[in-house]
Amino acid sequence: MESPDLLASMKEIAEAAAIALAAATSSDQVREIEISFIGKRGSLADISSELRNLDADAKRTVGEALNSIRSEISSNAESVRTSLREQERMLRLQSERRDLSEFLVDRHDSLGSIHLISRTRAELEDVFVGMGFSVEDGPEVETEWNNFEALNIPRHHPARASQDSFFLKFGEQDSVVLRTHTSPTQIRVMQAQEPPIYAVMPGRVYRRDTADSRHTPAFHQIEGLVVDRGIGFGDLAGTIETFTRAYFGPEINSRLRPAFFPFTEPSAEFEITCTICGGTGCRTCSGTGWIELGGCGMVHPNVFKAVGVDPEEWSGFAFGFGIDRCAQMRHSVSDARIYLDNDIRFLSQF
Ligand code: PHE
Repeated sequence: MESPDLLASMKEIAEAAAIALAAATSSDQVREIEISFIGKRGSLADISSELRNLDADAKRTVGEALNSIRSEISSNAESVRTSLREQERMLRLQSERRDLSEFLVDRHDSLGSIHLISRTRAELEDVFVGMGFSVEDGPEVETEWNNFEALNIPRHHPARASQDSFFLKFGEQDSVVLRTHTSPTQIRVMQAQEPPIYAVMPGRVYRRDTADSRHTPAFHQIEGLVVDRGIGFGDLAGTIETFTRAYFGPEINSRLRPAFFPFTEPSAEFEITCTICGGTGCRTCSGTGWIELGGCGMVHPNVFKAVGVDPEEWSGFAFGFGIDRCAQMRHSVSDARIYLDNDIRFLSQF
């Protein structure tokens, strides 16, 4: 081939290489194009094999052109490769992208809230757990034995009448009952654990009461039980007072008044300063300045006997009070029936 022909075909090769590189879509393709144009067996290699047939002048002209085309293709390839690699990197980053952004949910609108009774129960548990008590659970459907008999309330005892019960049609007549208080859980705990025992037992209880502003047929109590060596009435009074201040605040006090429960002896009712008037007397506390919260006393020896705890070695106290009543006092809820109403205007305040 003559040198003008060689120069012309080099120009074609250069153009073809430029077009191929412009169309390349990956760095691998760029590499293939480079090899096919400027590689050992590429298009330009054919040209350089023709060089030796040229005279010195033509050899120089064609040789220089060859070099400059080779380096042009190679630098063109390099820049295409760089930009393709950058594109490939962007694509990879895009595909590996994870959306870690948070977004705000309007919790009150969409998620609802914990019922005031559940919240109060949890807060009461916290207070007692802070005092070293464990939290125990018992069933709402109880045997007559656990709910009454083992608690020293025999069949014809008037105390059964004062806790009008819902009996279930199950087994022997009147042998299964919706528990009327959380005290049967005391029995279960003493049967399951050896003393020393420091436990609270919250839960729902049922009584055949007509609903009014302070009573509903289903309500909640939290029971307390301590069994240890040398436990006295002072420990009971101190525990009640400590709880009262921890839950209601330092300006609220407790007091005990003699009362009767078959399963404790001596027994007391415990009252706290009326939270509505602060103790000066108002309609809620009937002018007395005190509100009754629950009952308590020293565990009766007959109860210890029923569960096989030796009353010579161990002594203890128990208490039980209304969770609903606590919430009523703490949040000035005027009517307890609202707990069961499912009124969103009430529920969403807590
Ligand atoms: N169980 C009693 C009630 O429901 C309260 C109570 C519990 C009294 C423990 C004394 C000891 O009224």
